[in-house]
Amino acid sequence: MAITGYTDKLSVKQGDKVKVMVNCDGHDRYETQIVHLIHGDTDPNGPGFKVNKIESQTNGQYVGKKQEIHAGSYIQFGDDDLFNEIKSFSLQAMIYPTTPNKGVQAVLNKWSTKSNSGYGLFIDENGAVAVWIGNEDGSVEKVSTNIPLVKGTWYFVGGTFDEKTKKVTVFQQSVISKANGQFSLPYQMDEVNAVVHQDISIKPHSRNGAPFLIASSYESNNGHRHIVTHKYNGKIDRPRFAKSALKIEEMALWIETPQGNNLVAAWDFAEGITKKGFQNPELVYDQSPNCLHGQTVNLPTRAMTGYNWDSTEQSFIHAPEQYGAIHFHDDDLSDAQWSVDFEVDIPEDLQSGVYAAHVKAGDDEDYITFFVRPKTGQPNAKIAFIAPTASYLAYANNRFQDIPLAQLMFGRAPVVQPEDAYLGEHNEYGLSTYDHHTDGTGVCHSSSLRPILNMRPKYRHNLSPSLWQFNADLHLIDWMTEKGFEFDVITDYDLHSEGVELLKHYNVALTGSHPEYYSGAMLDAVESYQNLGGRFMYMGANGFYWVTEFHPTNPNIIEVRKNFGSNAWKTLPGELNLSFTGEQGSLWRLRGRAPQKIAGTGFIAEGFDVSSYYVRTKASFDPRVSWIFEGVEEEKIGDFGLVGGGAAGLELDIYDTELGTPDHAIILASSENHTDVYMQVVEELHFNVPGMSGEENPKVRADMVYYPTPNGGAVFSTSSIAYCGSLSHNNYDNNISKLTENVLRKFESDEKLPW
Ligand SMILES: [Fe+2]
Repeated sequence: MAITGYTDKLSVKQGDKVKVMVNCDGHDRYETQIVHLIHGDTDPNGPGFKVNKIESQTNGQYVGKKQEIHAGSYIQFGDDDLFNEIKSFSLQAMIYPTTPNKGVQAVLNKWSTKSNSGYGLFIDENGAVAVWIGNEDGSVEKVSTNIPLVKGTWYFVGGTFDEKTKKVTVFQQSVISKANGQFSLPYQMDEVNAVVHQDISIKPHSRNGAPFLIASSYESNNGHRHIVTHKYNGKIDRPRFAKSALKIEEMALWIETPQGNNLVAAWDFAEGITKKGFQNPELVYDQSPNCLHGQTVNLPTRAMTGYNWDSTEQSFIHAPEQYGAIHFHDDDLSDAQWSVDFEVDIPEDLQSGVYAAHVKAGDDEDYITFFVRPKTGQPNAKIAFIAPTASYLAYANNRFQDIPLAQLMFGRAPVVQPEDAYLGEHNEYGLSTYDHHTDGTGVCHSSSLRPILNMRPKYRHNLSPSLWQFNADLHLIDWMTEKGFEFDVITDYDLHSEGVELLKHYNVALTGSHPEYYSGAMLDAVESYQNLGGRFMYMGANGFYWVTEFHPTNPNIIEVRKNFGSNAWKTLPGELNLSFTGEQGSLWRLRGRAPQKIAGTGFIAEGFDVSSYYVRTKASFDPRVSWIFEGVEEEKIGDFGLVGGGAAGLELDIYDTELGTPDHAIILASSENHTDVYMQVVEELHFNVPGMSGEENPKVRADMVYYPTPNGGAVFSTSSIAYCGSLSHNNYDNNISKLTENVLRKFESDEKLPW
C-alpha cells in the first residue's frame, strides 16, 4: 500500500479530462497504465480478474513523491492587520467540548507553535480553559482556570489581556439549559466554573507570521496549505474578539449583542442559513464592520444546535438563531489537497464504462477508479448502468473490523485486508458514514477527494463473505459484457444533476447491488423515468434508503444524517436536517418515499454470514410473466454464487403494498432458509420481541418482483445484494443468469412487453 491515489472527479465525460493525484511512498518511480475494469473478483471459483489495458498517452513512468493527508477541521482567516496589531485583547466563545481531556486544543488563536509566540484561548493539557501569550523572545505565559471542563456541556469561556496593567483574566462558566447538552439543570454546579486573574510580565507577539485560526493552531505552511495542530473536538458558537480587555459582564452582553469601538470580530455561524440550507457551507461570516470572514477547512459540521437551543424547533432552517454552532472534529477530511501527478485525456470514442489508472511501483499498486460516461444527450446504448457513487462514498474507507460487535453482526470473524490494515495505521485517510469521529459523534460527510481503498477491484470487503459495493457491482458489469450487451455507465451524481433528461434516452436503467444513498433529485429522476415508460432493473437491495445530498458546489462530497433506521450512529437531538439543503435527513420512508414506491420492494432484513436461494412462486407461472422464466427448469433458483454461496443474501428487500408496492406487482420468487444471523430491520419493529431472526421469521426473505408501469415500462427487482454474484456461475450458464438475461433482452428491445 505504498502507492495510493484519487481523481478530481468520479464521473468523466467522453472527450473530457480527469486529474490524478498519487502518493508514492518509498519508491522513486512508478508505472501508470489506464485500464478498463470488467471483473474485479479474484475468487478462484469465478471467472477471475479481468481488466483491459487502454492505449493512452498517460501510460508510462512517473517520478513518485510522497503526499500526505492532513485531517482535522478548523477555520482559517486571511492575513489582516487587525489580527497583527493586537496589544490588549478579549477572546470569548460559547464552547461544547467533546474531548476536553485529549490534550491541548485551540479555541481562538493566533499562535505559532514553531516560535511559541502569539496569543490565544485554549483548552490546556488539564482540560481547563487557558490564555496563552508568547512574546518575540520565545517567553510564554499560560494562565489557566485549572478546572477541567465537563464534556457534552456548554460553557461561556473567555480570556483577556490588558497591555497596560499586564493583567490576564481567564474564565469558564457552564451554561446548562433543559435541552442544550448531555446534562440537566441540577448538574449546573459551581465547581465546574472558574475565574482566574493573574499578572504577567510579557506582551504578545502579534505579528508572528501565524494566521488567526479557530479550532486549531498554526504549525507551518507547505506552500499551498496550512499544517495545523492543537485540533479541537466539539462545538463552538458565537466567538467574539475585542482589541481591549473587556470586563466579564461586558463579554456576557457580547454573546448576543457585540458592539463598540473595540470590536474586532463577531462571528455568526448561523449566517448563511437559507430555507434551502447552507449554499456555501465553507464560508463563515463576521458580523462586525471589519468583515473578517473566514473559510472552514475539512468541512466541520454546520447546522448544529447552539448553546441556546431549547428543543422547540427541530430544524435549523426554522430557528437559525438556535443553530449558531459548528462542530469540529480532529479527523474531519474533505479534501486531501494533493498536487496533480498526471491528467488523463478521455478519447471521444472510449467506451463508456468503469476505468482506473493502475499505478504500480514494485509490488505495490493501486487502481484509482473513475467512471466514463457519454456526453450529455449523446447516449451510446439503450442500456444504462447507474453507478451508485454516493453509496460508494458512504462506505468509503469504512472500518467495520473495528466495530465492537462486528463478529456477532457478521456471524463470523471479519477478515482484514491489507487495505484495512493500512487504514488502521492511517487515520488521516478519513472515515466513512459508518464510522464515529474520535469524539464519538457520527460521521455525516464523505469525500472522494482522497484515496478510497475499498472502491477498488480485487478488494474483498469484510462486511460481506466476499465482495460488497464497488467490486461487487463489477459482477454485473462483467456479466453484461460477457453476454454482449451494449451499455453506458452513468453515475448517480449525473442523475442527480441532470435528472430524467439523462435517463430518458435509455430503454432500460439498471442499479448496482446496493444503491442505498439517494438524493431527492435522484429519486425524482427515477420516478419520472418510470412514469415516461422507462424500464428499471433494481439489481440489489436496501436501495433508496438514506436521504443523501451532494455538497452544493462540490460533487465529490456527500452529507447524510442517520437516525430512526438501521444505522451505525444516531444524530443528536435537533440535528437531523442536512446542512447542504435544510431538508430532513434519516430514511426516505419517513418522508413518504419508501423504496417500494419505485422498486416494488424495500429493506426488511440483513445478515452477513451466508446467502441462500429463491423459490419460484405459483404466481410466476402466470402467462403475463412466465416469459421471464423461459429456459429456467428449476424452481429453486440461485443456490450458488460468489457472494455467500447464494443469490439471496446479505441485505434483503420485501414486497409491501402498505409502503407502496403496486397492487398489480407479482412476486416471481422469494428466498427462504436464511440463518438466525439475519435479523428483521429495526424500522420494521414496533416492540422488540423474540422470533425476529431468519429461522423463525417469515418476513426475513427477498421478494423478486415484477410489474408493468405506464407507457410500456416495467420494474424488475431482485431484492438481494448477493444476486449479482451468482450471474457468472457455471460459465454464465445458470438460472439466475438466464432469468436476468430474459428480462434485460426484453427491456432493452423497443418491443412491447407481454402483460
Ligand atoms: Fe448499506
